[in-house]
Amino acid sequence: MLATNSRSFPPGFVWGVATASYQIEGAVEEDGRKPSIWDAFSRQPGRVMNGDTGDVACDHYHRWEADLDLIQRLGVGAYRFSIAWPRVIPDGDGAVNRHGLDFYDRLVDGLLERGVTPIPTLYHWDLPQALEARGGWTVRSTADAFAAYTQAVAERLGDRIGMWITLNEPWVSAFIGHATGEHAPGRRDLREALRAGHHLLLAHARAVPVLRAVGSGQVGITVNVTDVVPATDREDDRRAADLADEQVNRWFIDPVRRGAYPAGMTAAYGELMEGIVQAGDLEAIAAPIDALGINYYFRTHVAAAEPRVAADEPMAVLPYRAVVPAGLPRTAMGWPVEPDGLRDILVRLGGRYPGLPIHVTENGSAWDDVVRPDGSVDDPERVAYLEAHVDAVGQAIEAGADVRGYFAWSLLDNFEWAEGYSKRFGIVHVDYDTLRRTPKASARHYAEIIAANGI
Ligand code: FCB
Repeated sequence: MLATNSRSFPPGFVWGVATASYQIEGAVEEDGRKPSIWDAFSRQPGRVMNGDTGDVACDHYHRWEADLDLIQRLGVGAYRFSIAWPRVIPDGDGAVNRHGLDFYDRLVDGLLERGVTPIPTLYHWDLPQALEARGGWTVRSTADAFAAYTQAVAERLGDRIGMWITLNEPWVSAFIGHATGEHAPGRRDLREALRAGHHLLLAHARAVPVLRAVGSGQVGITVNVTDVVPATDREDDRRAADLADEQVNRWFIDPVRRGAYPAGMTAAYGELMEGIVQAGDLEAIAAPIDALGINYYFRTHVAAAEPRVAADEPMAVLPYRAVVPAGLPRTAMGWPVEPDGLRDILVRLGGRYPGLPIHVTENGSAWDDVVRPDGSVDDPERVAYLEAHVDAVGQAIEAGADVRGYFAWSLLDNFEWAEGYSKRFGIVHVDYDTLRRTPKASARHYAEIIAANGI
């Protein structure tokens, strides 16, 4: 899997690392923060592996200065972090908690002092639980609450931000949070997932003009993408792959870029979509943005399947299923390793949405790391994954895709949602007993790639 060629990147290409608030911060009851949907969800028995919660996580809320020093030592140009809405407006809407903003104010200054560009994501899944109690993303008013929250953050930080990301992976928030129920808030209803998805897009739409009015930072949105390929060359598998591409990749980007949901899946959802989209919504959602963030982890091979109605499996009504070809290496998440998929999806997105610069805002891999007696971690699989995917980005640029940055997921081992602390994505190891940080071999390798601006 190691790339055999050397590859250099365009001048100005941004190398970064990424994290998210609930996954690293801890301090869930400090300085006025109130619960998010993940605090509530992780406390429900059976929802998260080993009953893990984000109560302490990496204790980044107290150790942020040392963490910024680590970031600086990597030599990265940018840090993508997320802001916890329940710190800033603990009840979801209403009073702004100054202490919550103080934390991000210090963080942004600390980054700038270290020569690192701050790239905040406004929503990386920690919705205030108070809003969930009133319907969460399934109701339209949550989009208005998001605009007010965005206003509070932008007023405080807007003079120092290079690029804003409104939402992280609305597809996961919508479908994994509301249809499969594997993520907070844990609902299992496809219609609710579609409502949630639309209201997330509406939240993005409401935030864009707020961000434009305050400060000069660029504005983007991050979506999860996968390179969808048909399992065979058969006509029905190819049709199934097209639909899957619409369901995962295009459902959120098409409205933002083209002002319309993709036709094939809209037809497949049928009456489930009724009453969700109101006049003017799609025009607002399609307001111009400056950049698209994509998170890529794996390729998806798709075969046609009979749609089924199953109460416990709301996504079974989709007319396809994913199959993993035998013989592919797999990460600790079980995700197949296919770096060519990153190249192919970048090239495809470049062709489909011309004029929109792309940042790979997340890419990385979990492995069962072994800590040596001296505390060091040699992680050759993560090194190889990193190198092959960076190489794939280089190939995509060579093929004409306008890719401006790459952000490794993640700076630190952290709370991996439903998997709790059992899955480690960090290039820096975290000992959850002592909270000690130890850069892995992959961190050193990434620093070398950054210093050379290539492989
Ligand atoms: C993405 C999430 C991120 C992390 C990685 C592994 O879907 O955005 O928080 O959990 O997966």
